[in-house]
Amino acid sequence: MVQSARLDSADSALDFIYSAELEKEIFDRVSAHYAPHLPPARLNPPRDAQTPEERQGLIDYAIWNGSHDLFIVQVVARGISTLFKDDTEFQFALARQLGDDGLHALASRERITALSGSDGTERIAAAVRHHWQVLGDFPLSSWQAFLAWELHFEHHILARLFVNRRSSQIVDLPTRDFAENRIMPDEEYHRIKITEWWLRKLKSASFAQREHWVGEVLEADEKLQRLLGGYLRDSWALNARASGIDTRNYIPLYDGWRREILALLTGRSIAELPSLTSLAGVDREHEAALSPQPETV
Ligand SMILES: [Fe+2]
Ligand SMILES: [Fe+2]
Repeated sequence: MVQSARLDSADSALDFIYSAELEKEIFDRVSAHYAPHLPPARLNPPRDAQTPEERQGLIDYAIWNGSHDLFIVQVVARGISTLFKDDTEFQFALARQLGDDGLHALASRERITALSGSDGTERIAAAVRHHWQVLGDFPLSSWQAFLAWELHFEHHILARLFVNRRSSQIVDLPTRDFAENRIMPDEEYHRIKITEWWLRKLKSASFAQREHWVGEVLEADEKLQRLLGGYLRDSWALNARASGIDTRNYIPLYDGWRREILALLTGRSIAELPSLTSLAGVDREHEAALSPQPETV
């Protein structure tokens, strides 16, 4: 088996330093292929909302961000006390993630109050419940599922955040400043620590164990992709409505980014990965059954 021989002999495929520079290099490559219209860096500075509709878009986007971060806090808290209760090293990484993402959630709530004049707690809570409806307890069902969940919520999501950084036209300026000074470095740290934990685990395993784990993580990542398809597409639509991001070709762009990340983190080449579920490949029936919001297709 070509794949096995490669994983067996080529430890070097896992000998890389995961960093923001590496992420940018990979995204630039994927973007040049699937979304050449995207500039490598922002061309024009974004502006603040000017109309009630624009302001409402930013409020809705802050609700999304607040619930995303608070959901992470809840999953990570459970992970620390269950799956990883004996893994002190990973607890340090998760504790930092929990604290940071808790701060990000709080910051979103404060901006919702400032922008809307009313408290966003209930809307955030409802959106967090929606996350649990979509995913159930799957992220906590095994360490492999938890890791794949982390990859979706910290790594794969970067495709949209890169697009946002390069093409958003309308932003909440205080949120933008907080994101640049605090959120971005925090998130980079989360991705690095999660990746390092996984690579250490993988490198210390026997060949057979490694093969097995990589297969399980890829399988869990696929399951999450199927569950999250509608949620993710909604997030691109919301980001476009709130900030006017350039979503042309976003599906192949996201798929390409996710494929590159999975190849990198499993030590496999793109050709050696199984075929992956596209962001376009959602089960609409399932999605409709789980979504609390009425949706017309
Ligand atoms: Fe966060
Ligand atoms: Fe995070």
